[in-house]
Amino acid sequence: MISQNTIQQILGRIDIISVIGDFIKLKKRGASYLGLCPFHNEKTPSFTVSPAKEIYKCFGCGRSGNTISFIMEHEKYSYVDALKWLANRYNIEIEETFATDEQRQQQQSADSLYIINNFAQEFFSKTLFETEEGQDIGLSYLKERGFREDVIKKFKLGYSPEQRDAFTKEAIAKQYSQELLLKTGLVVNRNDQLIDNYRSRIIFPIHNTSGKVLGFGARVLKTTDKAPKYINTPENEIYVKSKILYGSYFARQAIDKADECLLVEGYTDVVSLHQAGIENVVASGGTSLTQEQLRLVRKYSNNLTIIYDGDAAGIKAALRGLDLALEEGLNVKLVLIPDKEDPDSYVNKVGAAAFIQFIQKNKKDFILFQLEVALKDAGTDSTRKAEVVNRMAETISKINKAEDFTKQQDYIKQCSEILKIDENGLHALVNKFIRERIVTQERKFSSTEDNNFVPEPARTDWSDETFNVLFMKELQERAIARIILEYGLKPWSDGTTVFDYMSNAKLFEDKDIPDDKNISLILEEELYDNKRVPLIINEYAFMYKRGLNPTVKEFAYHENNELAILAIETTNHPYELSPRWSQDEMATKVNRRIWDLNYKDFFDEAINGKDSDKVVYHHELDDNYKDDVNDVMIYLKLKKIKRLILTNEHDMKKTQTPEDMRTLIEAHNFLKGQQMALASKKHIAIYPF
Ligand code: GTP
Ligand code: MN
Repeated sequence: MISQNTIQQILGRIDIISVIGDFIKLKKRGASYLGLCPFHNEKTPSFTVSPAKEIYKCFGCGRSGNTISFIMEHEKYSYVDALKWLANRYNIEIEETFATDEQRQQQQSADSLYIINNFAQEFFSKTLFETEEGQDIGLSYLKERGFREDVIKKFKLGYSPEQRDAFTKEAIAKQYSQELLLKTGLVVNRNDQLIDNYRSRIIFPIHNTSGKVLGFGARVLKTTDKAPKYINTPENEIYVKSKILYGSYFARQAIDKADECLLVEGYTDVVSLHQAGIENVVASGGTSLTQEQLRLVRKYSNNLTIIYDGDAAGIKAALRGLDLALEEGLNVKLVLIPDKEDPDSYVNKVGAAAFIQFIQKNKKDFILFQLEVALKDAGTDSTRKAEVVNRMAETISKINKAEDFTKQQDYIKQCSEILKIDENGLHALVNKFIRERIVTQERKFSSTEDNNFVPEPARTDWSDETFNVLFMKELQERAIARIILEYGLKPWSDGTTVFDYMSNAKLFEDKDIPDDKNISLILEEELYDNKRVPLIINEYAFMYKRGLNPTVKEFAYHENNELAILAIETTNHPYELSPRWSQDEMATKVNRRIWDLNYKDFFDEAINGKDSDKVVYHHELDDNYKDDVNDVMIYLKLKKIKRLILTNEHDMKKTQTPEDMRTLIEAHNFLKGQQMALASKKHIAIYPF
């Protein structure tokens, strides 16, 4: 874990403009900076960065966050990796801490696994080259397959002898812990006896990118055996299959130099191609690619060429990785090896030069290849062709990184030509998929079922009803969180803060009302339709109670990144409705276009012009924060009273005695009276709750 000290140093040094400026071109516009959004397809900039708040927000796709989340999103890094990237950029030395003994032990265990693996690798190599059995069986097999000795040594291939405990004995003599030996998968327990897991097999050590041995692949000599062809290291602290690409250590510089990574299926494909002088090659181990593996590739090159067997299974496996690869911003090409050969056998058959030539000549664009295959499948069936169009649009929509926009446009053009459909139509479809994905991602932030969730206002397909009811309600609720975040620490009266006032506010100020009906409102989760709002307020209350002085900026760097993004989304919203408008004003203004001067130029584009009439202007509320506080409290009280009235009415229907009925009617009248009184005090319009 990165120490708190290091994190603080990094946060202290962050300059959001220069960090984001590393990736996109930003222009100063008023107090903010403006650029083309790297997260969706646009021609007019709607991506703003606020240096004061240290946050960014795109008014086109709704994405927002802080410097760290930008790096995470743009570079597809984990939180820790993003911190490491920033530390590196600012030359800050990273101090690691272990929060718990458990973590320390895990680290120690990982270190020990590397040590044992290293010992094992040496043992297997020695056995291969220096024992009679190794030479006669292992080495002669490898040589028969055409592997040269220098390549065998480079990849540190080995041999495990037939004797059932040859390795185990040596390892125990070296006093390695039994528990750790079992974890490496080198040793197994059979009837309370420790024995070797790999017997009479060729050993392929698997290195991480810095050359440490993570684990092994152990191949049988004769495939006629019933035993599995390969036995691999079981998952443990260091062997995490989804993150490993075989050969990455030996290939990384060649990949960088060639600016292309070749991907094959098998261990022997990698070794053979190396031997032929083709060194920019890694293997996935026969399964479809994971995101982590693709990220590993992307560290060295954006160009991925998949070289698979021409059989149906090979193509299928390759196609499965496609969309993920596109999401990672990779240019994917595909080469199918003919005639039941694999890269290993093919390069041995035709030689290095012909192999390279074959690859160059037969490289197919992956998206167009997929389109070809799908179209051929669909034939003349128009329903199936429509499916193909949809699928292609979805695939193309996954290319959504800034540097790839021209590529995306190109594909839209080429695919619409091949499909014989309108280019603009395909364009719209692609954008639809991008938008949908963003909305789903945002929904994931919601901790509870949030059926009333309103999509980001960048959408242009609201009905009037959706807009007037849901959007207004959404804005009112967001306004509560925003007002707490922005003004919570400001003075209210007599040394109390706004947040003191808000959290102590009672539903009825009337002294005669019994205490249990006087509830603190802002923390009442059920009053909010957007469950993300109370999430922020609860966290705010938590921090406030501990004297942590929560502010927008504090939240923007909250250790819980989801909360950080929630808070940013809530506060930095250009479509914000001023709660101070009366209902009449609202009615007229809602249907009128009123622009915030800062956003005037690109707003239009961001929401596609058509529905821009529905954008509502957000007043700067700074000077009048007390009015705003009062307004949102009234909103909450009215909402609560409305609920109480409904409950009361429900009770009336079930009431038998006139006595009870009278009490309920009294309660009803009281609530109605309170409602009227509150409504007359407020500046806001009431919307259906
Ligand atoms: P050769 O047949 O010697 O050329 O081996 P290969 O490495 O090319 O193997 P193959 O093409 O049959 O399979 C491709 C990859 O799939 C291998 O490198 C392994 O990573 C994986 N694989 C194949 N068979 C097995 C198996 O039985 N078990 C496991 N765990 N992985 C396998
Ligand atoms: Mn093979």
